[in-house]
Amino acid sequence: MFDFLCEVIEHDEVSKEYCLLKLFAGEIAHTARPGQFVHLRIPGLEQGSLRRPFSIFNTDKGLLWILYKSVGRGTEVMKKLEPGEEVKVIGPLGNGFPLQREVESILVAGGYGVAPLYFLATRLKRKGVLVVGGRSADDILVTDMFVGMGWRVVVATVDGSSGVKGLVTDPLLDELKRVEATGGGCELFVCGPDGMLRAVGELARQYGCKAWLSLDKHMVCGVGACLACVQKLRRSDGSTWVGRVCSDGPIFEAGEIVW
Ligand SMILES: Cc1cc2nc3c(=O)[nH]c(=O)nc-3n(C[C@H](O)[C@H](O)[C@H](O)COP(=O)(O)OP(=O)(O)OC[C@H]3O[C@@H](n4cnc5c(N)ncnc54)[C@H](O)[C@@H]3O)c2cc1C
Ligand code: FES
Repeated sequence: MFDFLCEVIEHDEVSKEYCLLKLFAGEIAHTARPGQFVHLRIPGLEQGSLRRPFSIFNTDKGLLWILYKSVGRGTEVMKKLEPGEEVKVIGPLGNGFPLQREVESILVAGGYGVAPLYFLATRLKRKGVLVVGGRSADDILVTDMFVGMGWRVVVATVDGSSGVKGLVTDPLLDELKRVEATGGGCELFVCGPDGMLRAVGELARQYGCKAWLSLDKHMVCGVGACLACVQKLRRSDGSTWVGRVCSDGPIFEAGEIVW
């Protein structure tokens, strides 16, 4: 884990409400694993304001890419960052996704949930399918980057403005049936809002496959010290414990989570 002052190299809007920020982050970028995140202190927010957690979207020659949605005070101020400005970054944090997989990988994303999955897709040897959902076409991001790497992309939007009309679980069900019909196995890698994580975890259970969920919790310290991000979890023997999403996660297998 490193604590660096990182220079903004590029900062662009990728779609309504979504931006891509590229920071020069040296060792943070070099040592990052898919599914890990960074904790950013946004310059311009008042003294003593909290850091904000963001998934690592990609790394490239010391650059750290962050794909984010503007949702509130911190991300509104973050949108104003210009190349040449500096941002305090702690990372890489968290456990990351498991990488050595034998079976087909199905990536499932809701909105900015695509961020940790792109980095994962760059590292998985066997290409699979990305199933991505959002409220409208504006929430469907960077799918061309997955296609460019040889991934198949299936889109669902609630208003039908892109892909099939419906929830991400609708086309996901078709994919699970396809895998079941071929007799092959699959594992799901999932990032999105809680309701989606829960629904996808339940589908995975029904089809007997693992689902690795990236949890999105409010954080304060980001390093396991404050207990702001606790989550009730289940061990394989059925007993429960309370974990910290920032340091024990943010990735958990769906069966571990007590919703
Ligand atoms: C491990 C992790 C990885 C994340 N990765 C990304 C990412 O790659 N891209 C991205 O855009 N966002 C990501 N987030 C969410 C991001 O941290 C929040 O959107 C951000 O902190 C909001 O800050 P704000 O000051 O703009 O919003 P605030 O003013 O603090 O809040 C605005 C609204 O957003 C909600 N909100 C705030 N924080 C969160 C959160 N953690 N989860 C859900 N809702 C929240 C609040 O309840 C409120 O409704 C991630 C969160 C975690 C925990
Ligand atoms: S944010 Fe402090 S323990 Fe997780």
